[in-house]
Amino acid sequence: MNPPIQIVIFGASGDLTARKLVPALLGLAQKGSADLQLIGVARRPLTDTGFRAQLRGQLPEADRGAFEAFQGCIHYVQGDVEGDLEGLAKRLDALGPSVGRLFYLSLRPNLFVPAVENLACAGLLAQENGDPWRRVVIEKPFGWDLASARALNHTLHRLLREEQIYRIDHYLGKETVQNLFAFRFNNAIFEPLWNRHHIELVQITVAEELGVERGRAAYYDTVGALRDMLQNHMLQILALVAMEPPSSLDPETIRDQKVNVLKSIRLWPSEPCVRGRYGPGDIGGQTVKGYLQEDGVGADSDAETYVALRAEIVNWRWSGVPFLLRHGKRLPKRFSEVRVQFKVPPIQLFDRFGEDARTLPDGLTCSLRPNHLTLSIQPREALSLGFGVKVPGSGMTMAPAELAFDYRDRFGGQTAPAYERLLLDALQGDPTLFLRDDEVEASWQLADTVCKSPLLEYPAGSWGPPEAENLFHGCEGGWSRG
Ligand code: BG6
Repeated sequence: MNPPIQIVIFGASGDLTARKLVPALLGLAQKGSADLQLIGVARRPLTDTGFRAQLRGQLPEADRGAFEAFQGCIHYVQGDVEGDLEGLAKRLDALGPSVGRLFYLSLRPNLFVPAVENLACAGLLAQENGDPWRRVVIEKPFGWDLASARALNHTLHRLLREEQIYRIDHYLGKETVQNLFAFRFNNAIFEPLWNRHHIELVQITVAEELGVERGRAAYYDTVGALRDMLQNHMLQILALVAMEPPSSLDPETIRDQKVNVLKSIRLWPSEPCVRGRYGPGDIGGQTVKGYLQEDGVGADSDAETYVALRAEIVNWRWSGVPFLLRHGKRLPKRFSEVRVQFKVPPIQLFDRFGEDARTLPDGLTCSLRPNHLTLSIQPREALSLGFGVKVPGSGMTMAPAELAFDYRDRFGGQTAPAYERLLLDALQGDPTLFLRDDEVEASWQLADTVCKSPLLEYPAGSWGPPEAENLFHGCEGGWSRG
């Protein structure tokens, strides 16, 4: 039997460990995907038994069975990433040989550098030819802006080789996000249409009903929606939608193409961004607080909980096509999707059915297009292609219709959680779904250009500031309602 892999989680008492990381590891252990030992590290004094009991209490009911079978492989080391990690090194050695060690930094971002420096000091990152592998997973936020992301990359590269660094973005672990890439490059019928000649605009939405969850305000208030979601998850979605085809599935070839497209994104020249913050309101019949009333949010907060922007990709394929990105908390419903809107035929021969025109807040009208491809990421995992069909009868009136595919109908809803897939890839040394240094920097390059437009208040449970509809100027359509 091979020795196990040791997974060391820093921030073992944190929310992410119990909610995502341990369930993902239990999933892997249950499927026999890898032989694992989990070593939690945090500052509070706990024994192995105490740590197991703490985890048992925090885990979702559905994971309890798997936990009982796996708990003998869970250990705990009291440690401070800002101090000496010799004790951790000794304990890892005492647990026996391993094929490799994965250090997962589920920490506040200001602790990434001290953690890596102290791991290196304790000799835990050294990996010569033939040694068991050593890898480090870093959670977001990776930097605060381009300058800090560069500085962080620079420091990490003093202590680790790039191929030892796994910068995680959990959206890339979602099946439906990976399918953006697979669907595009395995179905040749769409490729001839996937460009400025046939696509009128692309909109990407990540809408959440949730507000700022308990205990997260201290983090969220320093970043806001732009840095929390748009700079990372949403730009990753955009990169997959807009990248050029790679010549192979080699991780570097894929990441090269993503970097190329990220480097070509520019904000639309005039008024490209709308920022908002939710006020008190109603969601699903429940009254909810405004952002400023959430525990831990300062009265002088300037964090946005909604951001919408219009960008373009300055390259041969996409020049002139608006890419509209929108994310908000406390919107009426949770849904994430990519909606690709195709152009209309050059001449309108047919009557449109019913009222399919929308009025923008400034009075301009636009009518909706019949052809769109919607790639639903969550909660529905689906795909649909909209087109017009003739309404039966003597006239020549067209009505909207759809061809649809749903993962649940086809595969029975058996998609693995994002963290499970990503952890498995990190254990197997496949970096494809992790962000490379230049990829993170290219994303910050764009995010840094989003200026702080005035913060507009929207009631919780509404679709955000109506001003965001104006981002559609000059093209037809409006924000999807999911
Ligand atoms: C996290 C953000 O990265 O993603 C959260 O920090 C957000 O604010 C979450 O709610 C959304 O993830 P998902 O997988 O629930 O869409």
